[in-house]
Amino acid sequence: MGKLNTGDSLYALVGPLGHATEIKKYGKVILIGGGVGIAEIYPVTKALKEAGNHITTILGARTKDLLILEKELKAVSDEFHTTTDDGSYGKKGFVTDVLQELLNHGPSTVDYGLIYAVGPIPMMKNVASATRDSKIKTIVSLNTLMVDATGMCGCCRVTIGGVVKFSCVDGPEFDASLIDWDELVKRNRIYESKEKHICNLTKS
Ligand code: FES
Repeated sequence: MGKLNTGDSLYALVGPLGHATEIKKYGKVILIGGGVGIAEIYPVTKALKEAGNHITTILGARTKDLLILEKELKAVSDEFHTTTDDGSYGKKGFVTDVLQELLNHGPSTVDYGLIYAVGPIPMMKNVASATRDSKIKTIVSLNTLMVDATGMCGCCRVTIGGVVKFSCVDGPEFDASLIDWDELVKRNRIYESKEKHICNLTKS
């Protein structure tokens, strides 16, 4: 597309595929963003707030400098928490520490209608473990490997409740309790050595 000139046209364009986030009144909602996943939860948080939900937001980053959109998300949240791995800002620790506290000590856990999380796979996996027993509906948006993003290459496949799905057309959001997390972690590491090799090449 970068090589096209003004007035040129494409034969066809597919996308965006996948399903839109279901925005409705859930009551009390917890939104969790980790790293660049914070950017992804922002429009969802805004829309859920506009739909009349009570919003609790938990943001996490490795360090203060990597924390993004704090002001914007605070403006659409009723309750707000931040964590950093190194303790340089907010609570030292992980988003799941705060989530666990809310679930253990917050106002009745059953009040939460939805927990929505986007971030690194280990973070989303831990959110899934934290909410499994509470039976609160927990949705994550997966950042699987993708090549064509049209449902043809199979690169983004995940197992959901024992059934193979493609993140690009069936997702990217899935019920966190149904995801085969161990398989997902393994699949996302398939090209790790090549990714490191390319990183090293670009550095040298
Ligand atoms: S990215 Fe190829 S099938 Fe989803």
